[in-house]
Amino acid sequence: MKDKVIYYFTSTGNSLSVAESISNKINANIIRICETTDVDCNSDMIGFVFPLYFWGLPNLVSKFISNLNIKSDKPYIFAVVTCGGMIGGSALHDVDALLKEKGHGLNLGSRIQMVSNYICEFKIKDDKKIDNLLRKAEIKVNEVSEDIVNKKSNKIGKTNFIYKKFYKKYISSCANQDSHFSVEDTCIECGICSKVCPVNNIDVEKGRPKFLHNCEHCLACVHWCPKQAIQWKDVTKNKKRYHNPNIKLEDMISEKSKDI
Ligand SMILES: Cc1cc2nc3c(=O)[nH]c(=O)nc-3n(C[C@H](O)[C@H](O)[C@H](O)COP(=O)(O)O)c2cc1C
Ligand code: SF4
Ligand code: SF4
Repeated sequence: MKDKVIYYFTSTGNSLSVAESISNKINANIIRICETTDVDCNSDMIGFVFPLYFWGLPNLVSKFISNLNIKSDKPYIFAVVTCGGMIGGSALHDVDALLKEKGHGLNLGSRIQMVSNYICEFKIKDDKKIDNLLRKAEIKVNEVSEDIVNKKSNKIGKTNFIYKKFYKKYISSCANQDSHFSVEDTCIECGICSKVCPVNNIDVEKGRPKFLHNCEHCLACVHWCPKQAIQWKDVTKNKKRYHNPNIKLEDMISEKSKDI
């Protein structure tokens, strides 16, 4: 086991691509967050990379950090949050607060604007804009990686009640958002949706997905379905799907990516 670890959560690969880039610089293990059961961590450099959800932490990420048993005395801890357009929010502050409950704290926090995958609300940007955003993001990732190599610290800052109010309202309704999914007849019964789901929320019954109402609302199933057959309410139909160009389906479903 290396003495450095990066725990990541991803649905469309932005956060995985950032975790991989940082890992290449610092030579860390990268481990996908899929479950929230207790995990022991002996590393003295610990990173968390995840997407921003409603200006805050994805449910799975908060539960994971809450349940993480940090064994080293004074680890260097960093967090990188990837997001779409709305780069503010309370996610870094919340990670810091969860760590403080364990007698630790966040040394370095960074937000990186990438491509918004939230097609329940927005459209995916055109390819040129995506290229641009990802090029800028790459520069930022290199800067952050350098800071991590040098074990730099920054001020995490405060959150505000507007972020919190918005976050609480939306994040608490995620588990049942899958009741708004429908599957079109173009489904080819490939089972990919079930394989990319980070929380095993999709059973495949007679080849077709059945949602189990323990959803993270991450939209991995929607974006990775090769036939765009999964729709959320009536708002995702005919909208382009997205995944980070550096990340392939195999990266999402390999055994290695489901280490935890
Ligand atoms: C449920 C949900 C909520 C989101 N909320 C926000 C948000 O508040 N602000 C923002 O900028 N992007 C938001 N996004 C977009 C993601 O944070 C962004 O696309 C992220 O880079 C996706 O990372 P991933 O590819 O690793 O899953 C949201 C996406 C989802 C699925
Ligand atoms: S990924 Fe799409 S095509 Fe494949 S089983 Fe799921 S819904 Fe059907
Ligand atoms: S069912 Fe779809 S949206 Fe819900 S957690 Fe699984 S992959 Fe994400």
